[in-house]
Amino acid sequence: MSEQGFVVWFTGLSGSGKSTLAEALAPVLRERGRRIEILDGDIVRTNLSKGLGFSKEDRDANIRRIGFVANLLARNGVGVITAAISPYRAIREENRALVEGDGGAFIEVHAAATVEQCEARDVKGLYAKARAGEITGFTGVDDPYEPPAAPEVRCETGADPPETSLRQIIACLEARGLAPAARS
Ligand code: ADX
Repeated sequence: MSEQGFVVWFTGLSGSGKSTLAEALAPVLRERGRRIEILDGDIVRTNLSKGLGFSKEDRDANIRRIGFVANLLARNGVGVITAAISPYRAIREENRALVEGDGGAFIEVHAAATVEQCEARDVKGLYAKARAGEITGFTGVDDPYEPPAAPEVRCETGADPPETSLRQIIACLEARGLAPAARS
């Protein structure tokens, strides 16, 4: 029987560590024989979602597109890792229903760093711009972020090192039979 496809759906604020964890997770899963694709918000916005902004409508369209493509891949046995803020609970749940409805597994991972923690690092300098009013509608500053109520994995990315979060995610995937155990 072919392997079950899955979507690891990261959600969290800008700078919460979603992309870092996605990039760290992919090679671990490939090493274990899974075919993996990453759909990263920043990259998707340069092609699939080029031209979309950050209104609720545009974010919803962006997240629906990512969910649509993720599902196409997952239903063909691919392991998909998405890394977009995906601030609205309803659209994330819509994507979960889409993926699970086609037989894939949907693993929601909350990169749960707080606004304060993300802002203290401010890797891209965008929180400073948002505070200065140079960017409006910035998630966590003057735009909403709805945390998941019951994510499969919650990573304390503001406090824990990436290795800790990675271990939590891999343990979840192993428990669900989605990642063969590492060869020792
Ligand atoms: S989402 O809301 O549609 O899921 P997405 O993950 O694709 O967002 O893009 C977020 C990235 O866009 C952020 O990491 C940041 O670099 C950039 N960005 C630019 N403007 C905004 C904004 N107003 N709110 C959030 N992120 C923004």
